[in-house]
Amino acid sequence: MPLSAQSADLDFSSTVRDDLSNKDLQRVEKITEPTQDFSKAERFEANQGGAATSTKIANRDAFSQFSANLDFKGEQDFKLGNALFRKLWVSSPSSTQASDGLGPLFNARACQSCHLKDGRGHPPEGDSDATSMFLRLGKTGTTEEEIKALENFVSATIPDPVYGGQLQDLAVPGLAAEGHMVITYQEQIVQLKDGTEVSLRKPEYSVSDLAYGPLHEDTTLSPRIAPPMIGLGLLEAIHPADIIKNADPDDIDGDGISGKFAIAREPDTDGLTLGRFGWKAENPNVRHQSASAFAGDIGISSPEVDKPFGDCTAKQEACFDLATGVQTRLGETEAPDPVIDLVTFYSKNLAVPARRNVEKPEVLRGKELFYGAGCASCHRPKFVTRRDTEDKAQAFQLIWPYSDMLLHDMGEGLADGQQVGIANGREWRTPPLWGLGLTEMVNGHTFFLHDGRARNLTEAIMWHGGEAENAKQIFAEMEKADRQALIEFLESL
Ligand code: HEC
Ligand code: HEC
Repeated sequence: MPLSAQSADLDFSSTVRDDLSNKDLQRVEKITEPTQDFSKAERFEANQGGAATSTKIANRDAFSQFSANLDFKGEQDFKLGNALFRKLWVSSPSSTQASDGLGPLFNARACQSCHLKDGRGHPPEGDSDATSMFLRLGKTGTTEEEIKALENFVSATIPDPVYGGQLQDLAVPGLAAEGHMVITYQEQIVQLKDGTEVSLRKPEYSVSDLAYGPLHEDTTLSPRIAPPMIGLGLLEAIHPADIIKNADPDDIDGDGISGKFAIAREPDTDGLTLGRFGWKAENPNVRHQSASAFAGDIGISSPEVDKPFGDCTAKQEACFDLATGVQTRLGETEAPDPVIDLVTFYSKNLAVPARRNVEKPEVLRGKELFYGAGCASCHRPKFVTRRDTEDKAQAFQLIWPYSDMLLHDMGEGLADGQQVGIANGREWRTPPLWGLGLTEMVNGHTFFLHDGRARNLTEAIMWHGGEAENAKQIFAEMEKADRQALIEFLESL
């Protein structure tokens, strides 16, 4: 949304970019057209984050590099933001006053505890280690006020009346944590056409040790792993018209793929805009997502989300008797300015690593199969970001996120039954695929999808259903060598 459009709603019917001259518009349309030539790599394809791409040798820190086109001041801010992203908050009162205010209820003490190595989280292994994944709690509205708040996008969902918007499994000393996420998996064998068997583990979620009585009977559980942090500023810089024009909510073109854009309220302007972040795209921008994370995940208030008691609800009275970390000499909140500015800057400038092996014949073959199977209908290869971004490092870059940033019905198998904004209980935002192939190197695992149920890329694809049923079938019917080529393409991202 252009900054000049203060307090106005985005024009959701506009499919033409307003940031480009006609000549540039034509250039952009030409370069973002899907390729038909798979005999060689496309120009600039390896630099999937445009000029911001990190071309450092890929190692365990592959997701922690800054945008390659930052200026010196940008680099400094990135480093300050990094320190805040890693900072371990402590409970109040404490002698380290600028770091206290944790909780009272919380899921983790630092951003980095979930966004491990700036990469993705994972489901708990064994009884502990549940940090980088949590359950969002939400229900439908019943009172007139709630229904209005949902209709006007003031709230994306109605929190549980006692436990709030997410289950916090940790609390400061003297307060009971809310409870614990329990996952049980059931293996289900599916067969590919060539006879290969793939075992998919179907999760079932519940909560144990509920410390404040039962959950509301309408409250649903939406499991989420922490997504990777790379390229977020570039995703925010995709022009709304380029997202809106791919939406086809009523599937008018009849290809079985609809796709609708998420709508969210932009807190700074109070106008309606596109939702982009979170697994259901309920958050409009990185700044708001970061401020919500401070409040909901760590229990730290900021000027954007001024809730020193985090996600505590009125029904959790003991919570409000505890000390907060607000130090009036430092500011009105636990994370006063410029904390959110710096963390947002950091989060927007974690570079996408360069691709590997773009010219390898198997990778090119896999790319062709990816397009042929219809994966690219949702995992849209390329965009050119808007020219008029606040941050120049993200302006007018050819990027390759492999996402349309739209919501899709992914079928019953992946459904969580939770309505969030306009995303219903079967819908998820297409996740970007850039960086996918470095997951194992950075995070030491290959758990994919919103709840990490897939243990490798083949399983992730075989969980696709709903609008992606057809693409999945095509994959399941491929010859083994073709499936391998497709996976090799994904691993080159
Ligand atoms: C307890 C784990 C946890 C902590 C701590 C945490 N996050 Fe997250 N983060 C998540 C999860 C889970 C999501 C996905 C949320 C969703 O789908 O609604 C997420 C999403 C995000 C996103 C959006 C990414 C995308 O691709 O949509 C950003 C940005 C983000 N977090 C920033 C932060 C910042 C900044 C902090 C520290 C203030 C932080 N997070 C702390 C778990 C965490
Ligand atoms: C109808 C749109 C659609 C189509 C078609 C589609 N996908 Fe997806 N894809 C999604 C969505 C939405 C998710 C997230 C689902 C979830 O997490 O529950 C996803 C997730 C993934 C993931 C996991 C990403 C991550 O970060 O965890 C991979 C890998 C993937 N898709 C590959 C493919 C491949 C390969 C094809 C073609 C065979 C394909 N997709 C076709 C929409 C689609």
